[in-house]
Amino acid sequence: MTITRPTSDALVLFGATGDLAHRKIFPSLYAMERRGVLNVPVIGCARKDMTDAAMVERARDGIEQFGHDFDEGTFKRLADRIHYARVDYAEPDCFKKLRDTLGDAKHPLFYLAIPPSMFEGVVEQLQASGCAEGAAVVVEKPFGRDLSTALELNEVLHRVFQEDRIFRIDHYLGKEALLNLQYFRFANRFLEPIWNREHVRSVQITMAEDIGVEGRGGFYDEAGAIRDVVQNHMMQVVALLAMDPPAAADEESLRDAKVRLFRSMLPFREEDVVRGQFAGYRDKPGVAADSTTETFAAMRLRIDSWRWAGVPFFIRVGKNLPVTATEVTVEMHRPPQRLFPDGGGPARNYFRFQLKPSTVITIGASAKTPGDRMIGEQMEMVAVHRQPSEMEAYERLIGEALVGDTGLFARVDEVESTWRLVDPILQANTPIQDYEPGTWGPAAADTLIERYGVWHDPLSPVRLCPVTP
Ligand code: BG6
Repeated sequence: MTITRPTSDALVLFGATGDLAHRKIFPSLYAMERRGVLNVPVIGCARKDMTDAAMVERARDGIEQFGHDFDEGTFKRLADRIHYARVDYAEPDCFKKLRDTLGDAKHPLFYLAIPPSMFEGVVEQLQASGCAEGAAVVVEKPFGRDLSTALELNEVLHRVFQEDRIFRIDHYLGKEALLNLQYFRFANRFLEPIWNREHVRSVQITMAEDIGVEGRGGFYDEAGAIRDVVQNHMMQVVALLAMDPPAAADEESLRDAKVRLFRSMLPFREEDVVRGQFAGYRDKPGVAADSTTETFAAMRLRIDSWRWAGVPFFIRVGKNLPVTATEVTVEMHRPPQRLFPDGGGPARNYFRFQLKPSTVITIGASAKTPGDRMIGEQMEMVAVHRQPSEMEAYERLIGEALVGDTGLFARVDEVESTWRLVDPILQANTPIQDYEPGTWGPAAADTLIERYGVWHDPLSPVRLCPVTP
């Protein structure tokens, strides 16, 4: 089923003077201009009084700092598209003027790079002023802070926009490495027969960042690692790893397959979660002195499906860890028969997917050690090794939203079903354990996984424990 949706003919950016616009959105628009694929006016909106020229200068600053290959000619072409409109989000007149500024545009795309608490007012004004007619909307995570606020937020958006005109950005979905994961799974036949509980023993994902909260203390302290990256980014990685093949090639079938998987996941229990906080976090600006917000989480996810029942999916995320890297390891069971003196090699087979900093897929296997004995050693075969792609996630996503393709965005039922999983532990406020910056988090995280082995630290050799439970 191919769905044709209108291509947007203007981009209106609320929060145009904010950090996200500065670091990500303007540099992405610049990259699109350079590739020759940007062909709409860009109207920046914020509360301040500002001229078009000042908006252009602000965009230039962001692009110079956070973009790639600055070139005056390209920037000039982008600058010609940029306008500024002062919009006080509570003043109906501003929205009427905005509709006038939009001129002949019939399908504007409104990008709400503003705090979620402002969505309701803005969306209502867009409707009242006629701006929302024929339009689409982009919203940024967080989509709520738990299941009930996510439901409210979706209700607010649905009052004005149909679901297929709402683009919820989870920037992980725009990453080349995730698209490659999806491609690798379903473009190769050899995986499918073994990609299930009969052959897979456990799966683990580590998203490690060596930075702390870097000036985002206020935001982060309200969120914590589970809201910030597990409910969204990590769940999307699990979805691509574990979902059944989509029924067809279209975007809704892909999202249906993910939702089906999310629905077969069991909500996290208290015993499935270890929360940690790095020492010194409470002294950071914006962080409460008695904060119990987690900067680290290790979690065990259970998927109750024919494909995955009994296979634990371990997830570990954290700030101030030893490296910045995201990796997945899918560990297989041992061969059923032991034909060699070393029990069939030192290792189980595994697939390792590095999603960051590069896109790397390796397959772990055993091979005979040269010599007269039939004993083996662990080898890694590199299947894919690519440097980070030039195309940033935001660039891809803005392009997709402008042409109306929803496949790389989180659908309402994806968001709601993933909140349903984490909601119980957000409410439970389980104990928080300290860890030293630059370490792999609290020791309790190792206990969580010990029945299945150890955590595989990204960018280090995989260590497989010989124990079979
Ligand atoms: C964001 C989180 O969504 O993702 C940040 O809010 C995190 O806390 C970031 O650092 C990580 O994204 P990436 O693309 O750098 O892996």
